[in-house]
Amino acid sequence: MSTQRRRIRKAVFPVAGLGTRFLPATKAVPKEMLTVVDRPVIQHVVDEARAAGIEHFVFITGRGKGVIEDHFDNMFELEHTLAARGKKNELAELLRDLPAAGQSSFTRQQAPLGLGHAVWCARDIVGDEPFALLLPDMLHHAGKPCLAEMIEAYEAHGGNHVAVSPVPDDQTHQYGIVGVEDVKAKVSRITGMVEKPPRGTAPSNLHITGRYILQPEIFDLLGKQEKGAGGEIQLTDSMIKLAADKSQPFHAVRFDGRIYDCGSKIGFLMANVAYALAREDLGPELRAGIKSLL
Ligand code: G1P
Repeated sequence: MSTQRRRIRKAVFPVAGLGTRFLPATKAVPKEMLTVVDRPVIQHVVDEARAAGIEHFVFITGRGKGVIEDHFDNMFELEHTLAARGKKNELAELLRDLPAAGQSSFTRQQAPLGLGHAVWCARDIVGDEPFALLLPDMLHHAGKPCLAEMIEAYEAHGGNHVAVSPVPDDQTHQYGIVGVEDVKAKVSRITGMVEKPPRGTAPSNLHITGRYILQPEIFDLLGKQEKGAGGEIQLTDSMIKLAADKSQPFHAVRFDGRIYDCGSKIGFLMANVAYALAREDLGPELRAGIKSLL
């Protein structure tokens, strides 16, 4: 039986990134608002968090990202028009996706100083409780939402968790990489962590996929604002310090579904195909359409 843990109520979404890998599409439209099938990327990630029981959604935005705030707000004219035209299903779907009043918060990262800095911007809103962190570029496609699996692992073990999955050895330098006690286990204690290790030096090929459960002590470490790989304030560097404190267990949860990096063109295209193929209303026609193209 697991002991009683402080519940994970809040999730942080860093959405301040510039989206330079996706220009010119992201010049005036935030990358998080590009659509995978018929939902913005950020909506898919918020859905994952909600399915895992998250009650409060904290967005770290930046200049030019106001449309994300609008997306998660009521839109009176549209809702009124849909109601007047009897479009009940469309209206119900729109309202279902909205965080309830008071269940979302927005703050700005005023300068692009790195992921660690973006997360630190959430410190006052999150306060003194453990929280989830979801990187919106990374869509985790699976029967069971990745964050739900992580919360189960958290309830069993407490402390901090990162989702991991294997990448080819020639890609480890692009990610945060962890070493674990048992590479085959679904949940395993972390033995080492490094952000973007130079080629040939990674402790394993398990990369940090962009889903985290973190204890609030991370904010004190991030507050030191020390720069790491690429001259940025790296979240991984503060997680390494947190893991060194033996009173804070740190586990890796192996994610077995598919991951699509929607900040890259190929990842985004693959996500659109995969999510559409999985849909009853679109899958069969798309499958036939793709066959005719190949
Ligand atoms: C960030 C993290 C890295 C993680 C990656 C997942 O890197 O710092 O540890 O593996 O996200 O996408 P970034 O993609 O911001 O360079």
